[in-house]
Amino acid sequence: MTDILGEMRKTHHCSALGKKQIGEEVVLMGWVQRRRDHGGVIFVDLRDREGITQIVFNPEREQAAHAKAHSIRSEFVLGVRGKVEARPDGMVNSNLKTGEIEILVTELKILNTAQTPPFMIEETVDVSESIRLKHRHIDLRRPQLQKNIITRHKAAASIRQYLNANGFLDIETPVLTRSTPEGARDYLVPSRVNQGQFYALPQSPQLFKQLLMVAGFDRYYQIVRCFRDEDLRSDRQPEFTQVDLEMSFVGEEDVMTIAEGLVSALFKDVLGRNLVIPFERLDYADAIDRFGLDKPDMRFGLELQNISDIVEHSGFKVFASVVEKGGIVKALNAKGCIDFSRKEIDDLTEFVGVYRAKGLAWIKVKEDSWQSPIAKFFTDAEKEALAERINMEPGDLVFFVADQPKIVNEALGHLRNHLGKKLNLIDEKEFRFVWVTHFPMFEYDETEKRYQALHHPFTAPLDEDYDKLFDKPLEVRSRAYDMVLNGSEIGGGSIRIHQRERQEKVLQALGMEKKDYEGKFGFLLSALDSGAPPHGGLAFGLDRMVMILCGMQSIRDVIAFPKTQRAACLLTEAPSDPGREQLLELAIKVMIEK
Ligand code: AMO
Ligand code: AMP
Repeated sequence: MTDILGEMRKTHHCSALGKKQIGEEVVLMGWVQRRRDHGGVIFVDLRDREGITQIVFNPEREQAAHAKAHSIRSEFVLGVRGKVEARPDGMVNSNLKTGEIEILVTELKILNTAQTPPFMIEETVDVSESIRLKHRHIDLRRPQLQKNIITRHKAAASIRQYLNANGFLDIETPVLTRSTPEGARDYLVPSRVNQGQFYALPQSPQLFKQLLMVAGFDRYYQIVRCFRDEDLRSDRQPEFTQVDLEMSFVGEEDVMTIAEGLVSALFKDVLGRNLVIPFERLDYADAIDRFGLDKPDMRFGLELQNISDIVEHSGFKVFASVVEKGGIVKALNAKGCIDFSRKEIDDLTEFVGVYRAKGLAWIKVKEDSWQSPIAKFFTDAEKEALAERINMEPGDLVFFVADQPKIVNEALGHLRNHLGKKLNLIDEKEFRFVWVTHFPMFEYDETEKRYQALHHPFTAPLDEDYDKLFDKPLEVRSRAYDMVLNGSEIGGGSIRIHQRERQEKVLQALGMEKKDYEGKFGFLLSALDSGAPPHGGLAFGLDRMVMILCGMQSIRDVIAFPKTQRAACLLTEAPSDPGREQLLELAIKVMIEK
């Protein structure tokens, strides 16, 4: 077989050439973006990952090359040798980096032909995402995705450089392992050698990184794939990448300082932006109180106000009875929104309904009166107190939700984000970081009727709350912290429990019996008993960080081969039926009838 390339090797990429190289002979290789015929002369935009260069086939100057060029179609793969020439006056394209020059082709090799692509390789494609995912290798040729994947590489490189320079060791941990509880379902892998037994893919390397601290590898990191079988959204994938790190002999501030350093180096390296550190710190309780959510978008105001004390005895029974039953009433003042239509308010009522709010009461503040379905229920004193607490001024539209705290905060917290966008209160160019600290240790799972760790059960409780573990578990605060950027949780971590006795107590507080936790976490407990240093760490979601760096709305746009909402890979058609043979070998019987 003859080698199709022969002696031809590329000398430049498709964004490299400009006026400086005029007169040089060059070789470019790439894909045909498009071909245009202009009265005999053929122009081709040749594309590679760096950009586009115009190449020219001129029948009067290079007849042989021109004759071959007729068969060129979109997405053919070409190798061309030619001379860099200035474009004629009036033909300069200032939108293109190489727009001042073109290549007069002297030798053309068609390295491969291509079927007509299912969609155009252009900045904006008007096809469904499922078609794009099915032809991901073609979709990835689009400039935006090329840019995203390259940015992802730069981000990972910057992070490694920062952590290496700060004494962190990159250590790999197993992928075939035991369940690592992070709150999602596990992906299981059957064992052929031990039939009937399964590995779990790691939801995170949490336990291994703690074991590495016990082993003495102070300062570990890993850019690592994690697996979680959970409901997918635009910022969640079943497999995703963490920048995972752990340090010994540290407290919260030490970990947060390293994390801030990492993020500032990242933004400097990738975007050329200087971040102001340290980032703001916000107590979890304050975050919920002021913004309703534990990942507040701090780029705009619209803070929530608790008005339970004002309305608890009011004539509006909905409010009064909610407070009586231990619920709360909170308000959100949409400044200047008095002109919202009935339909807009109905839509917002539907919006908060998604978060289980049973209604959305409202007051429009006019110059000399209130327009509202509920105003008539309040006394003058109550009205005055409300006006003052909520800072009600003519032109305002105030919303209220009354319910159990969780529902009120979620509904109004999301309404706040929704209004922030709708009212254009957000500066899209701003990067606003905040640390949310002192998360509660536990939450009560209504469906499962038991306590769960809010972060994970290896997180240390605050010393001063330790005594409440069994009496008032919901009041125990933890040494956990999340880094939040523009309303998105990009990282989270904690100081860990490093003493066996305390770890056992926390597992007991979660309702586990000794035999349960010995079976599941015995190896961790004995490690804590064998000289575990105080330690803590954190993990960033790399996909989410890169999504924000790239200004994308979905993490699917920064992952080369992402999965769909149904956790499928449309390109390879995974998951799939492994076939009888393989199942037999694994001693697995499938109970679903097809
Ligand atoms: P956590 O569960 O908070 O912590 O995960 C850390 C970060 O990972 C990202 N993330 C995800 N990104 C995409 N798709 C998902 N399904 C997904 N799930 C999580 C988030 C999150 O902040 N072991 C602990 C860390 C520690 O305590 O050190 C952990 O995994 O950005
Ligand atoms: P109703 O008395 O049911 O007609 O409700 C009067 C107003 O109160 C309507 O605007 C409802 O949307 C609102 N509303 C009802 N229940 C709640 C609630 N739990 N929280 C806030 N507003 C509510």
